[in-house]
Amino acid sequence: MAEVAVTAPLPGGAIARLQERHSVRVRPPGPALIGRDMVEFVGQADALVCLLADRVAAEVFALCPRLKVVASYAVGVNNVDLEAARTSGVWVTNTPDVLTDATADLAWALILAVARRIGEGDGLVRSGGFTGWKPDLLLGTGLQGKTLGIVGMGRIGAAVARRAIGFGMKIAYHGRAPKPADEAFGAEFVAELDSLLARADVLSLHCPLTPQTRRLIDERRLRLLPHGAILVNTSRGEVLDEEALVRVLESGALAGAGLDVYEREPEVNPGLLGRMDVVLLPHLGSATREARAAMAELVVDNVLAVLAGKPPLTPAVKPLVPRS
Ligand code: DGY
Repeated sequence: MAEVAVTAPLPGGAIARLQERHSVRVRPPGPALIGRDMVEFVGQADALVCLLADRVAAEVFALCPRLKVVASYAVGVNNVDLEAARTSGVWVTNTPDVLTDATADLAWALILAVARRIGEGDGLVRSGGFTGWKPDLLLGTGLQGKTLGIVGMGRIGAAVARRAIGFGMKIAYHGRAPKPADEAFGAEFVAELDSLLARADVLSLHCPLTPQTRRLIDERRLRLLPHGAILVNTSRGEVLDEEALVRVLESGALAGAGLDVYEREPEVNPGLLGRMDVVLLPHLGSATREARAAMAELVVDNVLAVLAGKPPLTPAVKPLVPRS
């Protein structure tokens, strides 16, 4: 029987499947685990199940010699030192596919909320400010015929692009390489990020957070967007320079922004909080009951596979020489 350390309870009954075969420690809900607290929590465990805010640094791999797999309850694995895992012989797994539609739907919820000023309209009605229909009340931005720019045409970016067809938008994307036609939904590949930005009436961010994409969307790039553009971020907060976004919004260059993720999450830049042209969500990308339950099942399948000496279903990192 192996030992599995789980940093927080997961929705659904998946953890019970781990408990049938292994000794499982589940930490009660609490702040994210980082530094020495994470090392102590893992201790002699063979497997770690963690959340996206927990940090799994190189010291965890150095000081927890029994650890064979880090199974992250997220698709993004920027919170794990992937190179240290690889060279230390530890698998890292994530939860792709099962959260794609939920996250793409949420990106669209933000696009529509900003374009049609849903938050402002809701606030107006609740505050008693709705005094009757007016020709110019809360006019928004039409999407038909406009260009949706996607940064990062992976699974989620492509699912957001697919939904844009129904809204009559043109779709352009930037990524490391063009996608095969059947995965691009008629979207045009734009090799230069700056050229994509200059055309994107709506820009939606879907790239993973890496050293190369940290603050990829800075002030210079934000100012390349067409006047009245909408920016949506459901990827990772650090991909966007939040301070710069506040300045660009203040200048009136954008229609608004929809954010699900933040640079210093869960802190939100105070410059955003008072603005009515931004819609702010608490990292809800994958937050449907269906997606979160499926993510938990996949995490458990990955841990069970590695503890049975098999490769996991959805590896994010394959170790050089897996620990036995
Ligand atoms: C992920 O899985 O990386 C998402 O951000 C969770 O909502």
